[in-house]
Amino acid sequence: MKIKVENTSELEISTDVLILPVLEGEDISQYADVDENIGGIIAKLVESKEFTGKHKQTAIIHTNGIAPKRIMLAGLGKASEISHEKIRSLGGKVFKQIRTMYCLDAAISNRLFNTIEKDIKGDYPPAFYFIEGGLLGLYRFTKYKTEKIDTNEIDSITVLNEQDDLPLNWLQKTIAAVYYARDMVNTPPKDMTPTVITEYAKALYPKVVKVQVLEKEAVENENMGAYLSVSRGSDQPLKFIVIEYNAGTGSPIALVGKSITFDSGGLSIKPANSMEDMKYDMSGGAAVLGTLKALIELALPLNIVAVLPATENLINGYASKPGDVVSAITGKTIEILNTDAEGRLTLADGIGYAIKYYKPRAIIDIATLTGACSVALGHEAVAIMGTDRELIDRFKKAGNETYERVWEMPLFDEYKEYIKSDVADLKNVGGRAGGVVTAGYFLKEFTGNTPWVHLDIASTAWKDKEKDYLPKGGTGIGVRLLLNVLKEFV
Ligand code: BES
Ligand code: MN
Ligand code: ZN
Repeated sequence: MKIKVENTSELEISTDVLILPVLEGEDISQYADVDENIGGIIAKLVESKEFTGKHKQTAIIHTNGIAPKRIMLAGLGKASEISHEKIRSLGGKVFKQIRTMYCLDAAISNRLFNTIEKDIKGDYPPAFYFIEGGLLGLYRFTKYKTEKIDTNEIDSITVLNEQDDLPLNWLQKTIAAVYYARDMVNTPPKDMTPTVITEYAKALYPKVVKVQVLEKEAVENENMGAYLSVSRGSDQPLKFIVIEYNAGTGSPIALVGKSITFDSGGLSIKPANSMEDMKYDMSGGAAVLGTLKALIELALPLNIVAVLPATENLINGYASKPGDVVSAITGKTIEILNTDAEGRLTLADGIGYAIKYYKPRAIIDIATLTGACSVALGHEAVAIMGTDRELIDRFKKAGNETYERVWEMPLFDEYKEYIKSDVADLKNVGGRAGGVVTAGYFLKEFTGNTPWVHLDIASTAWKDKEKDYLPKGGTGIGVRLLLNVLKEFV
């Protein structure tokens, strides 16, 4: 899609639809020149209270005598309640509606945005959030549909403003990365195996990144027994994927993404309805690859190492049994009491490997790790915990900016008791209480002295129901959040 800023007037822009943002209960004199030229219809809509400017309310006017074919009034809600998220969700609503109207292009008046810019606490001008929400909302996954979709795609958006201050390159590259991650997550598990993830990694700008894939034998040689044990129950070969992006200086930041391409639970098998969507158990890995894709395209001067310990969690005769003891790359032994707590086993080795070979300045892991995450936070926030205060605070700030919000959970020393095993150093489950934090504490045991942050995206990586700019299915969460944090390291 083409997005541009143009210094053209609302009356003269040739477009299928001109979008006029409106605040609830405020007068519309800002658009008086437009209204005069269309016979005062905007004033009538407002006077009759047919259109009040309530958040996400819209009204369409077909015009006569001005260049835009239609005008869409778009309600931003009350001035006192304005936020970048309100603008984002309005953008999501508006772009989707425009698409159902078969409009091929749209123009957005920036007049009101210019007046409210100072009231919005955010890194960017209001139009940024509007378009961001709009683009995020337009995503659809159609690869497996054979029936033709009855709407076009919007192919251009023009912001009408004198000043050209929108970081459109950042915006488009980050959204493309979210789409990429969503596509991966939405792809059926038979078509998104560890081998296919490897192909995605290798297709990422081979001139810029170095991709190394450890096969089973190499994983055995590295003594990554925890990760290996998860893959043993699957007929799909494991792929331990390591990607180096070296465009900066100093020791790298390690990104470790949970990449279980299907989680059946293993012998501790999940009930059918909990298994239905378990293709999204590689959302962490998808977020890491999406983040890398954008970092590369934006040429951010950073050193990053990404680690994706990809495997299925399935069942065959070699599958782990509750009671098995395995040994991770660090030498720590783990008693597997529940084969469905597999993510932490793969991440333990992913983290251990990153530390052993890259001595990273920080490790960030991102994982659909625990069902308990939605018990604690619902579907509104990512659970964050870790050992680096400054990095956690950076994530909080980035979470507020991107609205991929994070909520901190504690890592009290007492949790260590919860995961003490009778026969090994650790056990992989801590009982019903504190499911999010015991999983986090388990990972901490493999981080040594390396500053580390863990993001549990189990409750936010997937939508059962469309919401504003988040379509049903994979959300691509983590991509915008990670990029927002990483750009501050430049
Ligand atoms: N992939 C799941 C976590 C999950 C659950 C993600 C629901 C998204 C939605 C993870 O591997 C898992 O099964 N965790 C178990 C841990 C338990 C056995 C300690 C869980 O949460 O039930
Ligand atoms: Mn599981
Ligand atoms: Zn899992």
